[in-house]
Amino acid sequence: MNIKDLYINFFTKKGHKQIPSAPVVPENDPSVLFNTAGMMPLIPYLMGQKHPYGTRLCDYQKCIRLTDLDSVGDKTHHTFFEMLGNWSLGDYFKEEAISWSFEFLTQELNIPVERLAVTVFAGNDNIPFDEVSYNKWISLGINPQRIAKTVDDNFWIAGDTGPCGPDSEMFYFRSEDAIPDEFDPDDNRWVEIWNDVFMQYEKKSDGTFVELPKKNVDTGMGVERITSVLEGKLDNYESSIWQNVIAKICELSKKEYVGEYQKSMRIIADHIRTAVFILADPAGIKPSNTDQGYILRRLIRRAIRHARILGIDSNSSWECEIAQIILNQYDKYYVELKDNAEVVLKELAIEKVKFTRTLEKGLRKFSEFTKNGENITGEVAFHLFDTYGFPLELTKELASENNLSVDEEGYEKMFKEHQEKSRTASAGKFKGGLAGNSEVETKYHTATHLLNAALKIVVGPEVHQKGSNITDERMRFDFSCDHKLSDEELNQAETIVNNWIKEGLDVKCEQMPKEEAIKSGAECMFIEKYPDVVTVYSIGDISKELCGGPHVANTSVLGTFKIIKEESSSSGVRRIKAVLK
Ligand code: ALA
Repeated sequence: MNIKDLYINFFTKKGHKQIPSAPVVPENDPSVLFNTAGMMPLIPYLMGQKHPYGTRLCDYQKCIRLTDLDSVGDKTHHTFFEMLGNWSLGDYFKEEAISWSFEFLTQELNIPVERLAVTVFAGNDNIPFDEVSYNKWISLGINPQRIAKTVDDNFWIAGDTGPCGPDSEMFYFRSEDAIPDEFDPDDNRWVEIWNDVFMQYEKKSDGTFVELPKKNVDTGMGVERITSVLEGKLDNYESSIWQNVIAKICELSKKEYVGEYQKSMRIIADHIRTAVFILADPAGIKPSNTDQGYILRRLIRRAIRHARILGIDSNSSWECEIAQIILNQYDKYYVELKDNAEVVLKELAIEKVKFTRTLEKGLRKFSEFTKNGENITGEVAFHLFDTYGFPLELTKELASENNLSVDEEGYEKMFKEHQEKSRTASAGKFKGGLAGNSEVETKYHTATHLLNAALKIVVGPEVHQKGSNITDERMRFDFSCDHKLSDEELNQAETIVNNWIKEGLDVKCEQMPKEEAIKSGAECMFIEKYPDVVTVYSIGDISKELCGGPHVANTSVLGTFKIIKEESSSSGVRRIKAVLK
């Protein structure tokens, strides 16, 4: 049985409800580009909000971590991975979490106890030694010599602030060597496979810790890692997960998965898989020069260059053939891959054609610029980007292969001079930090619902939300509409929203079965993505939407609503940017 099914079955039997994987692009957190851990979509619930599915949850969640992007090409790194998780939202705590982890590892996965070791939190000035976890592991038969007490590695937080707590990690001895009696977490024959986090604090931006209203459990086990461990592979790309993809790349390149080719094959495999999941995401991301679209472009273009290194025929549909294998492998678990398969293949093909056209010329230019061993100036890097579509990171990769450096600062300067808006790297979006919803963002959430309702009046009931992005400074709202809005339409929408703000409408939050919500006419973006019981926010009687919140209690606090821009987002989709003053 697939590890995902095994895991979900096990935790369902322990009273957990399976929740669907959230989209890989966070829906209500503009501070990060992608979900980086299974717990991210659950943050509001870990902080105390009631979850419609109850207090025991489990899932497999799509995650993307960009911190490892440059390491992809070795045996173990990936940009996309799936994380198995089980959660207690103020329900069970350390004892149950640990004993179920142990039971799953030893009974379901049949891992011998001798191959296991664990870490527990040793204690520091703020938080005491985790004696309960320590004693629990002993009671289950883990030898004290196999329990390491550490501080830094045993405290888990997703970014700088937010829900967090001490954790207990589980390790597997992956080696033919005799298993040492004493566990040393720094000995890399011990591989970390699972993490049980006991979330009972919230770290505030001033660095202080406050107790959460409830004690929670958050666990995470990476599917790629555990699969290769169980299959006895030291190279993740040799596990069953990658088998078909690597075989396809071998066939396309007429090369074996050996030696110098492995790096390029892994990069292609990893990057195309991540691109498939980004393209299939309901957020509708396409390759572009900003935010998630830029990451997507980087991934596809890097894969294209490595396909060239392997001698794969660029006129073939190699990218689609690889993507098709990934779609087939995963669409049973992620319905969006089925629904959006066509878009995925089409966009990959378009991006390939676009870049293949200029790649050769750009590479020639690169050789010309560097023929006397000169380092890459900001101007050259920008020229390669602007004229040949080389993402900066690709130029850096080429430079490092030739032992040359790139003047990144110079590039950024040129970029800023040429673009009205710099891509978001400089805004720190790559770090994977978490921002709670600030008061201002909360106001923008509510204003977004008001604008959606106003557009339905001004343009027509066929207007639907296609996307939304909120920062402390503005809101951005994408909606279906076949024409550019006239000034009159924009003024009208603005006036309607401001009138609703002045009226001081109450915002109401209710939980109800999905069917009932739909019947009552609640608006929602991706109905199939929602659980059976949903949260519905109503504003007076003018708006009703399925939404995770948060929202203000009354519209009177929103101030004055002002539309600052209306533009096209993509075909049939318009975009409005607006501010609250
Ligand atoms: N959130 C924890 C992790 O990602 C479980 O390791």
